[in-house]
Amino acid sequence: MSRVRVAVLCSGGGTNLQAILDCAAAGNIPAGEIALVVSDNASAYALERAKRANVATFIADRKTIPDRLARERAILGALKEHGIGLVVLAGFMTILSDAFTKAYEMRIINVHPSLIPSFCGPGFYGLKVHEAALARGVKVTGATVHFVNEVCDGGPIIAQKAVYVQEGDTPETLQKRVMREAEWVILPQAVQAVCKQLSEQKGE
Ligand code: GAR
Repeated sequence: MSRVRVAVLCSGGGTNLQAILDCAAAGNIPAGEIALVVSDNASAYALERAKRANVATFIADRKTIPDRLARERAILGALKEHGIGLVVLAGFMTILSDAFTKAYEMRIINVHPSLIPSFCGPGFYGLKVHEAALARGVKVTGATVHFVNEVCDGGPIIAQKAVYVQEGDTPETLQKRVMREAEWVILPQAVQAVCKQLSEQKGE
């Protein structure tokens, strides 16, 4: 069965990208091949991680291409050029247009650092999610991997993992625990599961 070519889109540090790369290197993403890393931030550390793993990179920088749709067109071109079958949003901080999500319908997944439908939607990203969870006083939070459609954080849920809030948590300590215990676990697993599903569909 042919492996699905995967692109990972990142804007920053890329620890979720690293979790995927490590999982693939350990042979645990047999249905997929991490073929491309895309960033909308030329100085994202994620690009270094890609280079170290010998994965091709493509940059559509927010500063040099300020228009969101123009950036998307550039990215779509790169995805096509690299024969990408699955797009993974791993800390990608630009909301995608309807045209983009339709072009890869049910072939874009995202990791979000809360248990959707809590603390999600426009304005909830990165540390802000954990600040909101602590301000609300929740005792359990976690992470969600979901398909991406035209509704921000609204697509079908693929996987979730709960993480307990601890006394004295700051947004930073909570973010780190949610990443380590949930995101870095369920995202690589979801990449494998969706690639497997896509390659089985293709084989039908
Ligand atoms: C992760 O916590 C990810 O869930 C979050 O940004 C962080 C990126 O970290 N994404 C969102 O908030 C999307 N709404 P990373 O670059 O180290 O993977």
